[in-house]
Amino acid sequence: MRELTKILMILLVVFAASCSIDNSKKGGEKEKFINDLIGKMTLEEKIGQLSLFSAGIDPTVPVSNPKYADDIKAGRVGAVFAAFTTRDIERLQKMAVEESRLGIPMLFGYDVIHGFKTIFPMPLAETASWNPDLIRHTARIAADEASATGVNWFFAPMVDVTHEPRWGRGVEGSGEDPYLASVVAVARVKGYQGDDLKDVSTVAACPKHFAGYGFVEAGKEYAPVDVSEGRLRNLILPPFKAAIDAGALTMMSAFNDVNGVPAAANKFLMTDILRGEWNYNGFVVSDFGSIDSLVVQGYAENNKQTAELAFNAGGDIDMESSSYKDNIPALVKEGKIDIRDIDRAVRNVLNVKWELGLFKDPYKYIDKTREKTRMLTKQNLETARQMAWESFVLLKNNNRVLPLDLKKYRSIALIGPLADNQADYMGTWIAQGDTFNVVTLKQGLEKQLPSGIRLNYAKGCNIEGDDCSGFSEAINAARRSDIILLAIGEKGNMSGESGSRGDITIPGVQSELLYELSKLDKPVVLLLSNGRPLAIEKEVAASDAVLVTWIPGTAGGDAVADVLLGQYNPSGKLPVTFPRSVSQVPIYYNHLPSNRPGDPSNRYSCSYIDIPFTPLYPFGYGLSYTTFKYSDLKLDRKEGGENDIVKVSVKVKNTGDFDGEEVVQLYIRDVAASLIRPVKELKAFKKVFIKKGEEKTITFELKPERDFAFYRADMTYGTEPGRFLIFAGTNSQDVLKEEYLLKE
Ligand code: GLC
Repeated sequence: MRELTKILMILLVVFAASCSIDNSKKGGEKEKFINDLIGKMTLEEKIGQLSLFSAGIDPTVPVSNPKYADDIKAGRVGAVFAAFTTRDIERLQKMAVEESRLGIPMLFGYDVIHGFKTIFPMPLAETASWNPDLIRHTARIAADEASATGVNWFFAPMVDVTHEPRWGRGVEGSGEDPYLASVVAVARVKGYQGDDLKDVSTVAACPKHFAGYGFVEAGKEYAPVDVSEGRLRNLILPPFKAAIDAGALTMMSAFNDVNGVPAAANKFLMTDILRGEWNYNGFVVSDFGSIDSLVVQGYAENNKQTAELAFNAGGDIDMESSSYKDNIPALVKEGKIDIRDIDRAVRNVLNVKWELGLFKDPYKYIDKTREKTRMLTKQNLETARQMAWESFVLLKNNNRVLPLDLKKYRSIALIGPLADNQADYMGTWIAQGDTFNVVTLKQGLEKQLPSGIRLNYAKGCNIEGDDCSGFSEAINAARRSDIILLAIGEKGNMSGESGSRGDITIPGVQSELLYELSKLDKPVVLLLSNGRPLAIEKEVAASDAVLVTWIPGTAGGDAVADVLLGQYNPSGKLPVTFPRSVSQVPIYYNHLPSNRPGDPSNRYSCSYIDIPFTPLYPFGYGLSYTTFKYSDLKLDRKEGGENDIVKVSVKVKNTGDFDGEEVVQLYIRDVAASLIRPVKELKAFKKVFIKKGEEKTITFELKPERDFAFYRADMTYGTEPGRFLIFAGTNSQDVLKEEYLLKE
């Protein structure tokens, strides 16, 4: 018997070994290459792969390591930040590949947030198009342009959900809803990374800022963040998960703390959730110097401890703080960092370089011919123009003053500091975009207006300041005109990083100019340039039409002129709630119910005694030059289990005089749950073109196991049986409603 057992044991061992050999074959060339390379690396070279430095080429990106060139040649730098020409990237890559001992190629990361050379509308504006295919296309163009210079890693997409219009960085993201933000995150990741990462036009994506940055206290930049785990998991994390599931190769952690633990050293986020629950095997890079700042943030006693805390929490790459470079050797020697974890982090980084094809050809992205031919092409500019069209949101159009009737309006006053302004049509994070390429609104109109139409231009005032001396010229221009176009709003840098505003009204004396012009008893069209929701209740009341143009980018002026003249019927929908005043903030559509829901007629309700509790404009709101009528919301079943599919249909008729696109929105409400759920949650949408007079039936499929699931009171993920409300409509308020029962 003993002999038989012995033979069986031998057979078992041989079988297991063969499996492992098969596995290594399955793991393949990449695993073998990476393991062999790691086996040759010194500790210093390993730490080099975990260090990212600026080469000081972009004046806005300071050099934190003056010895970066020596370090590159010594194999102590794994990635360079903010290099963006073939000349510089080739020079730096050669230092790494041809002068360092192991010749490991470097990543070249850059903030390409809304275009590289062709600048698209800011990401929040792109989201207002509710057109993920177009968003993916603009991301593809950005990757195509940037990769031609050798850039192979974007610090994008920014996927931070936020309810805070005071916070400047909402403009870089996708608004207040986790579903919409997830759809846009996937579109951008797929646009950047393309269908095949080996393609020279692809770059590694980097969803950021993991996590919770959009909930900084009072919307104040870099402020602390305190959120419940339910809000973290149900509202903040979904777009990150969607980006990872879409294949994002890298991730960036946030500056802020999450409930007292800085994101840069947050094990719960970067290890337990990201790697433990989501099986993420890319790398995590810190935000700019955020590892160093763990000391000032009250989390680390000293610089050495910053490296220990951040690395052991799951932070792979140190962006611009030198903390890893300076401290990890000693921490490994002291046993405070395990060399096996170093190898794991290095493997994550080398994996990305392998996936990008850099080991096969470290210079594959550096292409002087592409650098000359791929930028600002006619097609790229046409796409930028289309994206701008589709991003604009028509908030008001009394007496159908738009589109402009040039038979009626023979002379047009164009007034305001945003009317002939290139810089503020670009916004922040403009990468290598050139302001001189921007088409202003004045230029756009001059190109398109027929010769018989007179354009009377006056700036009127500045964006900031209290100088009203230009008012008289503006009023005179208006007096000579049949209609007034007033382009006012924010400067491009009044949003973006370090762009929080405590006052979200229109700055300076621009509103006063509007009120003066509105006394002339001529139609006034307000063209708003904004990087956030603005409190514009009085300005809307003083205008006949209001078009939100956000920060429209290189082709902005052409696009605004197109829409004003009816070349394109606006279809944008708000991805963020517009409050009546900052004192209502935070105010958002997907809020939890109160025990006494707001009721204007009842003081004892979720409301104020001195101001309305309702928003100026709700999430999902946006008008068209035509009108759409919704009817016949139908469910193909009234009840079912979580695996049953619910087919939803709704009829939408174009009842106006223009063909147009409509974003049909589908929301749900889980009426009773172990963790109370929002009064509405967006779960699907379709942007459809409907000819005037035509009616279409729009269909959706709800899958309860996917669409009704949430993190419950015990933080497990899943559905709970009970009543659900299903809504369909043109925005989050004007909806048709049906009931559905989810059974055990
Ligand atoms: C900045 C931003 C981050 C950006 C990084 C590199 O401070 O927070 O979004 O990608 O540093 O510029």
